[in-house]
Amino acid sequence: MSVPSANVFEDLRRQSPVVLAPLSGITDAAFREVCRRSGCRFVYAEMTSSEALARGNDKAQGRIRGLDAPIPTVAQLLGNSPEVMAEAAEMCVEMGADAVDINLGCPARQIVRGGGGSALMREPETVAALVHAMTARISKPVSVKMRAGWDDNCRNAVDIARIAEGEGAKAITVHPRTRAQAFKGAANWEVIARVKEAVSVPVIGNGDVRTREDMLRMLESTRCDAVMVGRSALGQPWIFRKLEDPTFIDPDYETRIEVAIEHLRLLGQDKGDHRGAVEFRKHLACYLKSMPDNKFVREKMNRMDSVEEVVSVLREYAEGILARKRPMAAS
Ligand SMILES: Cc1cc2nc3c(=O)[nH]c(=O)nc-3n(C[C@H](O)[C@H](O)[C@H](O)COP(=O)(O)O)c2cc1C
Repeated sequence: MSVPSANVFEDLRRQSPVVLAPLSGITDAAFREVCRRSGCRFVYAEMTSSEALARGNDKAQGRIRGLDAPIPTVAQLLGNSPEVMAEAAEMCVEMGADAVDINLGCPARQIVRGGGGSALMREPETVAALVHAMTARISKPVSVKMRAGWDDNCRNAVDIARIAEGEGAKAITVHPRTRAQAFKGAANWEVIARVKEAVSVPVIGNGDVRTREDMLRMLESTRCDAVMVGRSALGQPWIFRKLEDPTFIDPDYETRIEVAIEHLRLLGQDKGDHRGAVEFRKHLACYLKSMPDNKFVREKMNRMDSVEEVVSVLREYAEGILARKRPMAAS
């Protein structure tokens, strides 16, 4: 295994892997590990509140577990206080993060009201102060993940990118929708191209990449250094191999079930048997989306509350799929 350099974003520029996006409630340590085992080479952890981390909140601490993974792993922080963000960044680095990202994109009302996430797209001076304070405090690189702007009247991704780079940010991810758009409409990749032209640090393009063709089109049309995938990884962590390897064939149903079981066991180990099984329900719904005759599992899904219970239902389901594949005995 190669040892990542001090600035993992330079490795990213050289190798251009497909990057797992930060997804709150999804890209915890277990999901990142499943993605790694399925071919992912660079991951972002789910956003964590800097205030909660700095207060020593248990739940927030849980969200930064597993940052010391064997592939480059970027922690992501929410917040708008330079002092608190710097302190939280230091905690992430102590936990093994290879870089710390500032969330400039979360559209949730509660977060925006507190002055964090996409509210920062309207606060260029605060962005500058955050990058400055965090860069001064930690030895690992600081990055930002932003939207196209706040709304149609404030499309300032290029300005914010330049400011962040000027204060020492070492990479910029662009999800080119405004806060007002949330997740609606198509992502406008032209914004990624404009940011790429404006800065010299690596730029990661993000938004609506579902297939290898999408990925190639984004790389070519925007010249971005790497592509980040979020929602398309749900229920198909093998997407990283699929996007990078043109000869890759989707796993068969039994293999998908085995991947799901591996994911479930990791969640159980990390969060405890009951909580792991309950949290796995949302993932299971995603795995099942591409699977046949899954009513049997769906009906039981919301009542299963231990890891082994879920495993046994999934094994029974896999048996059913295999049995249907076997040739019928001659009558
Ligand atoms: C359930 C969910 C949770 C998300 N959580 C985060 C987060 O914690 N931090 C962040 O920067 N973006 C977050 N995002 C945005 C994604 O990282 C990504 O920018 C967006 O989904 C577009 O990429 P995609 O089309 O590949 O999904 C989240 C999106 C979803 C759907």
